[in-house]
Amino acid sequence: MANYIPEETIAEIRRSLDIVEVISEYVQLQKRGKHYTGLCPFHEEKTPSFSVSPDKQLYHCFGCGAGGNVITFIMEIEQLQFAEAVQRLAENKGLSVPDIPLSGTVKDSTHNRKKEAHQLASRFYHHLLMSTEQGRESFEYLLQRGFEKETIELFQLGFAPDHDGLLKELLVKRGFDLTDMEECGLLRRHEAAWELHDRFRNRVMFPIRDMRGYTVGFGGRVLGTGEPKYLNSPETSIFNKSDTLYGMDLAKKEIRKQNTAVLFEGYMDVISAYQANVKNGVASLGTSLTERQAQVLSRNAERIIICFDGDNAGQEAAVKSANMLEKHGLNVQVAVLPERMDPDDYIHSKGAEQFKKEIIEAAIPFMAFKMETLKKNKNLHIEGDKLSYIEEVLKQITTLSKAVERDFYMRRLADEFSLSFDALKQEQYRIYKETRRSFDKVGKPRFNQVQRERRGTAPFVNKRILPAFQNAERFLLAHMMQSKEITAEVGERLGGGFNVDEHIALAAYLYSYYGDNNPADPGAFINQLDDANLVKKASEIAMLDISRHLSENELVDYIHQIKNYPKWVEIEEKEQKMKEAEKKSDLKQALQLAAEIVDMKKALKK
Ligand code: UTP
Ligand code: MN
Repeated sequence: MANYIPEETIAEIRRSLDIVEVISEYVQLQKRGKHYTGLCPFHEEKTPSFSVSPDKQLYHCFGCGAGGNVITFIMEIEQLQFAEAVQRLAENKGLSVPDIPLSGTVKDSTHNRKKEAHQLASRFYHHLLMSTEQGRESFEYLLQRGFEKETIELFQLGFAPDHDGLLKELLVKRGFDLTDMEECGLLRRHEAAWELHDRFRNRVMFPIRDMRGYTVGFGGRVLGTGEPKYLNSPETSIFNKSDTLYGMDLAKKEIRKQNTAVLFEGYMDVISAYQANVKNGVASLGTSLTERQAQVLSRNAERIIICFDGDNAGQEAAVKSANMLEKHGLNVQVAVLPERMDPDDYIHSKGAEQFKKEIIEAAIPFMAFKMETLKKNKNLHIEGDKLSYIEEVLKQITTLSKAVERDFYMRRLADEFSLSFDALKQEQYRIYKETRRSFDKVGKPRFNQVQRERRGTAPFVNKRILPAFQNAERFLLAHMMQSKEITAEVGERLGGGFNVDEHIALAAYLYSYYGDNNPADPGAFINQLDDANLVKKASEIAMLDISRHLSENELVDYIHQIKNYPKWVEIEEKEQKMKEAEKKSDLKQALQLAAEIVDMKKALKK
């Protein structure tokens, strides 16, 4: 892989890091024999097929085929270039690596310039807030709202001055193309005028960052009151609103660690909660939750706690988001706030401790929340209201996929209204049959249920059964990665005689790797591969469970399997031709082929 970091530095970083420790920051791992397993962070799954080997310092997913070493892991999960990933890992370990310029070679230069301009703007606004007279009022406002200096720095809050062109001036000075700057939303044109101006004026600035921590847009809040309260960057080529979540860059580690995310409505809520030690919070960007955002969340956690404003609009939005998140297979809970309070208000009036204990940790399952909500506009002392309430709750219960859950809530209902559990169950069954009929009509599968039920199945279901010669090639390569001597033996007896293209390539890389006098080390070997596909294949193979020792018998056996494979193919071809000859009644030809086949088989058996 092309990089400008010295080999020794890379080797040192790999030596000083433990892959299990690094991956644990993103995936909940459990020890199983020699390996650790967990849910793959690179594809959606409900049963763990992601495996990490501490011995080999490699990972591999049996589900999607992802695999590699600690560096490729960081590259993939953080979407970084090789050098950036090395630097990120080094920073975390306190090792020094030469500075690497922002961004790589992936996208065209305007794209990079737009991103650079956003980093610059965010630093500029932050500086104005923290250290200038102009920013004082905003800074005081934030302090008065209870934010600590450290929090303001962490979220890089800023101040856009009440001026038409301060940012523009800076952008010009730094040589940014003004058309690009208009396209990416930092500048805008007043309707009838030709002149470009700063988009944000006299506002407290909230940089919106992507997963990697790069600013891609802003939300700007008025100081005090005014309309609009928040002005947001438009959707641009660097800012995809539908799959960005505010706070995700800071929260993702904690989300994966806890396997839980908290979804808020506002930027202020995310920041306040973070300061109150709820560090797995994110918010959508001023619109209701999108399918893409739900997907991002479902890739990072199994459980979501929705913590929206206590007013009606907030609670309605919570139901909408909860339904969507459930469809994505998530276990949804709702944290209920007192009316007329948002999380930020609550934290300020009741404190961080109480917020965590009484609100977040007291979140209730979505079903229980729906039961509470259905009560709201009813007077349960009136018989008619009571009956319609029970009917509505039963309908909701019917949507639950697990029988134990359905029973649980029916029991609750039975207790609350002193009803017979069996009668409720019967009624619920009637509703079930009715709704199922309408489901069938629409032809829509209840995929939520299907997904949930798959949770119970055994891991590694995707393990493929491969033909013998392929297994022989894989096992041999696994041994070669662990031993220079075996590689030399194989080189002599088989050379490049593997049958699968990727295996031929890997063998070639191995011969040259040991030829350069490198020691046996699968992780180091994988670093030399410059093809992502080969990296995956190599890690998969390196993680095969093989004994340290390879006996002469096994070696001969593997080599036979591999060398003989082309002959078996030839035999199959001859058998095919023989059948055709028989069909055409060409007996002479058929007999000739039969004799050849017998001879070949005899030779192979030897
Ligand atoms: P809120 O009105 O609840 O704001 O909007 P807030 O976050 O509690 O802010 P404070 O506490 O009043 O300062 C919630 C979210 O809706 C979006 C923003 O993302 C905001 O954080 N919003 C709101 C807009 O995009 N534009 C608006 O004009 C208002
Ligand atoms: Mn608020």
